[in-house]
Amino acid sequence: MINKRGQLINTKVMGRLLRYAYPHWRSFFLVFGLILLMTITSLAQPRLVQWIIDNHLVNLSPGMEEGAVRQELFQIGIIALTYLGTVLINFGSNYAHFWVLNKTGQTILLNLRQEVYDHVMSLSMSFFDTNPLGNLVTRITNDTENLNEMFTSVLTSLFQNIVSIIGIILIMLTMNFRLGLMVLALTPAILIISFVFRNIIQKVYEEQRRILSKINNHLSENLSGMNVIQMFHQEEKVYQEFDKADRDYLRESQREVKYFATYRPAVELIRSLGIALLLWYGGGGFIRETITFGILYAYIEYIQRFFHPILSLAETYNVIQSALTSSRRIFSLMDEKRTVINQTDPIQVDRLMGKVEFDHVWFAYKGEEWVLKDVSFIIEPGEFVAFVGSTGAGKSSIMHLISRFYDIQRGSIRIDGIDIKNFDEQQLRQAVGVVQQDVFLFGGTVEENITLGREYVSRDDAIQASKLVNAETFIRRLPGGYEAPVMERGATFSAGQRQLLSYARTVAADPSMLILDEATANIDTETELLIQDAIIKMSRNRTTIAVAHRISTIADADKIIVMHHGEIAEEGTKDQLLEQDGIFRVLYELQFDR
Ligand code: CTP
Ligand code: MG
Repeated sequence: MINKRGQLINTKVMGRLLRYAYPHWRSFFLVFGLILLMTITSLAQPRLVQWIIDNHLVNLSPGMEEGAVRQELFQIGIIALTYLGTVLINFGSNYAHFWVLNKTGQTILLNLRQEVYDHVMSLSMSFFDTNPLGNLVTRITNDTENLNEMFTSVLTSLFQNIVSIIGIILIMLTMNFRLGLMVLALTPAILIISFVFRNIIQKVYEEQRRILSKINNHLSENLSGMNVIQMFHQEEKVYQEFDKADRDYLRESQREVKYFATYRPAVELIRSLGIALLLWYGGGGFIRETITFGILYAYIEYIQRFFHPILSLAETYNVIQSALTSSRRIFSLMDEKRTVINQTDPIQVDRLMGKVEFDHVWFAYKGEEWVLKDVSFIIEPGEFVAFVGSTGAGKSSIMHLISRFYDIQRGSIRIDGIDIKNFDEQQLRQAVGVVQQDVFLFGGTVEENITLGREYVSRDDAIQASKLVNAETFIRRLPGGYEAPVMERGATFSAGQRQLLSYARTVAADPSMLILDEATANIDTETELLIQDAIIKMSRNRTTIAVAHRISTIADADKIIVMHHGEIAEEGTKDQLLEQDGIFRVLYELQFDR
């Protein structure tokens, strides 16, 4: 049931939906016209048959004159041709309406899907930290598809059914008022049954949707983590979970079938009851000659056609509910605000020098769980600064903050003396080249993975960058070289190769600052030398900030900052820190004692 509040929200959602339909009002207008034509031709048919029966067939009798018979047959022929005409027009308008409608629906859907996807891509990282991937996939695919139902079946079947119902009632009442009233008297029974049914079935549908979303989440999460599952022999457990959700779904589907299996025969029963009543009452009238045979026939036909739109209206209600739920979900997704907001009038700079300042920065991903506590440091242009510290100390978080993936709660972050909130976000991210801790490769070619389709990165830039970071040699050895295919997530490359590719990707755009969040993965000595050499070459003439797990990466750093539980614990050159005999010295000795 819809309460007052629910109804209010529904009309709001409806209004918003209609805004998407509005640009296509001409198509919808055409569709409504075609539906009107369909309904009129369909409703005219029993009336034509009745006409033949009552006005012509009854006139025919065995002893009739040849001329009169021919005259009657001629008239019947004309009506039969008209009947054929209504069948053809009905067929034509049905076909046309279906075609126009689905084309329009799919066009609206395409726009909507693009809009949703576009919006999701614009959202800040914190959104993706908290929203399961499977839910997003469901919203962009299933939920938009549900909306299509709204535009195609709901909007038009509502119109079609209402027009049919009104048409049939009018015809029945004008043909014979009392017979008409009798048929109408059955309507409440049908309505009550349908009402009860749709309430039950709606709960079933809701449950189904919930389980389906669970299944989707399960699939997207576990398929992407397949290597972990197999490595830790979790197949059985994961399968059990999936199996359970799948069985739940089966159960709900069976429930749906069960209810439909009761509902349909119940409706059929009432319909038969109606026809029996009609025959009893109408038959009596026929004998008393108040009702003609043709009218009786027409009524039976109209009863059949009367039930269909009523039932269909009840089912439309379900579709509307499901479409409204989907739209609410889609709209709430579209209403998600970016947490990181771009300046309306950002500062434009030709090229950043690369001075980075953290000024009493406090940062938490959520609430007051401080990940960075009062962090301050200054990195001069062209310097090479390394961050070290135990896992979870907040190193990667600092890297995320420099390219403003998140906004800080207190303090400020400045680049070249300007608060990063005043830069254009895109310019900032272009100026800060980031090599992330987990390298993500997309399906495509090697070259595409380096240029990433950025218009300011040419093929030549990609090749130069690969040479600089020592990736050229292994790329040339791949079958197809730069055109070699990359599987989703780069599964066919080694960790070192992925690392080198991500270096090439980052320096190809010639950023003024470089952020390296070193992977913890162990890499063979040969590749390690290549990587080290690549880092030295990449860091030339640019500010470089590196999170280092291998001491070899930071040996030549201008400054090393040691992080501990979100705070800066120590700061200085390698030699200074070793002398201090603090955390760094412990880390250092741990690595060299291995
Ligand atoms: N964190 C979080 N939400 C995220 C990312 C991180 O709540 N989206 C939390 C982590 O749980 C951790 C803290 O932030 O407690 C710091 O994380 P991070 O900066 O990634 O730590 P690192 O120092 O980079 O650790 P590692 O050496 O393991 O990469
Ligand atoms: Mg990290």
